[in-house]
Amino acid sequence: MTKPVHGGNLAWAATIAGCPTSAIIDFSASINPLGPPNSALQAIQSNINQLRAYPDPSYQELKKAISLTHPPLTPEWVLPGNGAAELLTWAALELSKLETTYLLVPAFSDYWRALKTFAANVVECPLEIGEWKLEQLAIKSDISKGLLLNNPHNPTGMLMELESIVPFLEKFGLVVVDEAFMDFLPPPQLESLIPLVTKFDNLVILRSLTKFYSLPGLRIGYVISHPERLRKWEKWRDPWSVNSLAIAAAQAVLEDKVFQEQTWNWLSKACPQLFQGLAELPGLQPYSGAANFLLVKSEKSVDQLQIKLLKEYQILIRDCLSFAELGDRYFRVAVRTQEENQKLIDALAKIL
Ligand SMILES: Cc1ncc(COP(=O)(O)O)c(C=O)c1O
Repeated sequence: MTKPVHGGNLAWAATIAGCPTSAIIDFSASINPLGPPNSALQAIQSNINQLRAYPDPSYQELKKAISLTHPPLTPEWVLPGNGAAELLTWAALELSKLETTYLLVPAFSDYWRALKTFAANVVECPLEIGEWKLEQLAIKSDISKGLLLNNPHNPTGMLMELESIVPFLEKFGLVVVDEAFMDFLPPPQLESLIPLVTKFDNLVILRSLTKFYSLPGLRIGYVISHPERLRKWEKWRDPWSVNSLAIAAAQAVLEDKVFQEQTWNWLSKACPQLFQGLAELPGLQPYSGAANFLLVKSEKSVDQLQIKLLKEYQILIRDCLSFAELGDRYFRVAVRTQEENQKLIDALAKIL
């Protein structure tokens, strides 16, 4: 079995560890360990009979439910998708029609998948880890150029302030901001661009329900942008790309304030605990992150560290080989429960 590009490949990890997939503690996919919320599971169970009918292809109810979580937006500003990944495809098609797309690197590998599919002309903008240095983006107003950003940024965990993105909205023809991890920030710390979407018709914001609500297998996300653009995307894509159970679960979790509070409470304690534990280990340097994962620099080869953690402790971390700029001296770990975080810290302490 070849080494996976994405995190969360438990079949590969179990083969290396020589154990069932259920025995792996997965730090490689940045998924909320408290989920999925009961509200999602109950909604799926009670809507199981919906499988007999096609979903509403215009997704009116779901659009309404999503728009209500982002007042004062109305449903036509929202389009649900088969995960943020599906919507990224349509964003990439739009970007590919522009002369150039500026892309912050290291970048989530799926951006490359989507941009290459449509032969977009990509200019890489290397990011200095630990600080946002975007001078290379100091272009003059040029509507023939596009920009693809990720905030908070995967894999560094860096968060860009809303105000620092506004100048790009004034310059670029199209700005796509992937906010797949933004939900992990409690409301007072949010830097989401959603409040600006009615001001800028060149803004596209991607959101995912995968990470925060721990639903990667269900496939559900949404995009917020100008209604004219979303009507165009609806014509481009397959009908019924969001299934009936995803609709039911999404509507339930968006209203689940208890789960949202629990997640913010857990993360506010578990993230500093993991950071501190990693920082105290020899040869490791974690970078502080705004979301539910941490990027860590390692003096030792991560390839070997990853295999040892799997074979000796059934723990899976995310190597950064798919991020060309990072290579074998970085890894990424999801923040998990405090007990599991401690297991990782203890295992690394023994290996290092
Ligand atoms: C930055 C980023 N955006 C989008 C996605 C895809 O999210 P979804 O599961 O909603 O397609 C991922 C998944 O790893 C991601 O890391």
